[in-house]
Amino acid sequence: VPKPFAAYAPSNIALSKYWGKRDHARNLPLNSSLSISLADWGSHTQVSPSDDGQDHVTLGGKELALDTPFAAKALRFADLFRTHAASAPLRIDTNNTIPTAAGLASSASGFAALTRAICGCFGLTETLSEAQMSLIARLGSGSATRSFWHGFVRWDKGTREDGADSFAHPLDLNWPEFRIAILPVDVGPKSQSSRDGMNHTVVTSPLFNSWPDQAEADCAAIESAIKEQDFETLGPLVEANALAMHATMQAARPALTYLTSESWTLLERLWRARQDGLRAFATMDAGANIKLIFLKQAATDVMEIFPQAQMIDPFSKP
Ligand code: DP6
Repeated sequence: VPKPFAAYAPSNIALSKYWGKRDHARNLPLNSSLSISLADWGSHTQVSPSDDGQDHVTLGGKELALDTPFAAKALRFADLFRTHAASAPLRIDTNNTIPTAAGLASSASGFAALTRAICGCFGLTETLSEAQMSLIARLGSGSATRSFWHGFVRWDKGTREDGADSFAHPLDLNWPEFRIAILPVDVGPKSQSSRDGMNHTVVTSPLFNSWPDQAEADCAAIESAIKEQDFETLGPLVEANALAMHATMQAARPALTYLTSESWTLLERLWRARQDGLRAFATMDAGANIKLIFLKQAATDVMEIFPQAQMIDPFSKP
């Protein structure tokens, strides 16, 4: 018998990016990726049996029409767990704690929290491991595989055709000085989804050929630098990996550009500050925002140079 079940999952930022799929139906990536979770920035989701025979989806306390993209995606995902909607009508209630001002997408935390909550609702949490839930969440969104744990998490691309070895695992290490800051950038019209953007890049960008091998090598090097807590090696690798991903997009035909002139202004300010000794490095995803990584001792300087920064302490205990 289904029962109400509430779950939380943190959002995450990739330090080594996932960009490109080898299988669309199974949502399998061409390369492994590695992220840092955003502690208490994430999604709270409760899934319960619906008592009026209909599906209901709320976001931030507001009931959504079932054909809005958010509701439709959540229900399509729920259909993986039931033979048809009428067999188990559900209520899905989601609240995101990511500050709106940070301008971050929440699909990673959203699908991870939804997976945990549906599994709990259907009584599957005792049978399924977190690794198995990570694999299931992959079918909703790739980056959601990495949102089942706090701290650093690696999504192994896997080699099997059925995707059974493509899920994430935590690196299981503490780096209490590690910090992240989001520099929000105003965006105009909604940019292309990461799913459409990566598919367009894979299909049309002549620079994409070099990406999967480079990304796999970056992921391994970034993992070692984290394990050695070697920030001076890690920072440049993380920034180079993000810029290389954006270079593949820029070479797509037509070009795909998520970064705006304001993003580049912030990057130039960062690079100038680095010449003056600042130890902070940037990473960027399918949007205009800049995310910085640095150590605690650089926090005051980062806040002085970027007063708009929204800072996160990923290893603070909630
Ligand atoms: C640039 O996980 O949103 O943020 O699997 O198609 O849902 P789908 O894509 P998604 O892509 C994330 C792309 C990225 C890099 C990353 O998070 O690794």
